[in-house]
Amino acid sequence: MSNKPVVLVTRKLPAAVEQKLAENFATILNPDDKLYSTDELLELAAGADAILPCHTEKFPAATIAQLPARVKAIANFSVGVDHVDLEAAKQKQVIVTNTPDVLSDATAEIAILLMLGAARRASEGERLVRNQQWQDWSPAFMVGRQITGKRLGILGLGRVGQVVANRARGFDMKVHYHNRKPLDPQHAGDAIYHDSVEALLANIDVLSIHCPASDATRGLLNRETIALMHRDAILVNTSRGGVIDDDALVAALQAGGIAAAGLDVFNGEPDAIHPGYRQLDNVFLLPHIGSATRETRDAMGFRAIDNLVAIFNGEEPGDRVA
Ligand code: DGY
Repeated sequence: MSNKPVVLVTRKLPAAVEQKLAENFATILNPDDKLYSTDELLELAAGADAILPCHTEKFPAATIAQLPARVKAIANFSVGVDHVDLEAAKQKQVIVTNTPDVLSDATAEIAILLMLGAARRASEGERLVRNQQWQDWSPAFMVGRQITGKRLGILGLGRVGQVVANRARGFDMKVHYHNRKPLDPQHAGDAIYHDSVEALLANIDVLSIHCPASDATRGLLNRETIALMHRDAILVNTSRGGVIDDDALVAALQAGGIAAAGLDVFNGEPDAIHPGYRQLDNVFLLPHIGSATRETRDAMGFRAIDNLVAIFNGEEPGDRVA
C-alpha cells in the first residue's frame, strides 16, 4: 500500500498533469469529468489529504467546516479563488493555493479577441454567414468600430492586465488604468493612472476588467458607473461575472448607453446567465475559456502540483492565498 498523500482531483486534467500527479501522490481522479455535488465532494474528500479543485467546485464556509480533518490543502487549478471562503479555510488551517502567472498570456489573448469581436461585430457577422443570410455587400454593411489608437482602460493592472496592456500597445492603444495604488513605472510603463473607477471610465474608449471578484468589486460596473462611459465605448470582461451588475449592463447595451460588450465570464454561468445577453446583437459571448489553451492547462496543473509538493514537504507553497 502506498504511503503517498492522497489528492482528490475534482475534474479531468490533462494527461501529462495527471501523470505527474501520480508520480508524487496517490490520486482520486475523475475520468468522466463529472461535476460533483457538494455531498459527493465531501464523500470523496473523506479519503483525501488534499483537494485539487477548479472554480467549478464551491467551498463556502459551510462546506469547509465539513471537510474531514485529514484534508490539509485546497490547491486550486485556477488563479481566481472566489469559489473558496479563504477566511473559513484559514480558521480551519486548510492551506489554499492558486495558479497565477501561467494563464496571463492565454487570458490576455481572449481579452483582445473579445475587444475585436465586440468592436467588429463578430457575432453578428458569423451568424449571417453561418445561417445563409449574407446577401449583399456595401460600404454601409456591418460597419463596426476600430480599436487601433483608442484609449484602453484597464481595471486592475495586475499580471493579466499588464499583458493585455502590452498586447494593446501593439494596436497603438493608449493605456489607462485604475488600481488601489499606482504601480511603479517598471510595471505600469506609460499607462496613465486614475485614482478612481469613475475617473477611469470617463476617459476611455475600451474597458477591460481584470480585478478579482471580491466583496469590494461586486457590482462595480453598475447603473451609475456604466453611465460614465462614452456612448461609443466597449466593455470587456475576462475576470469574473460578479464585477458586473447584469441588469445595468444589459440596459445600457439595449439603450445605446455603451456601444458593445465582449464577455467571457458571467454571473450564473454556465446555464443561468442573464437572458438579456442572448438577445443582444452588440455582445460577443464566450463560455469562460480565458485560460483554455493546451499550454496553459498543462502549466496550471504543474503549478498546482508544485504547490502540493511544497505543502507535503513541509515547505511554504509558492502560491499560498490562505
Ligand atoms: C481562473 O483560473 O480563475 C480561470 O477563470 C479558470 O478558473
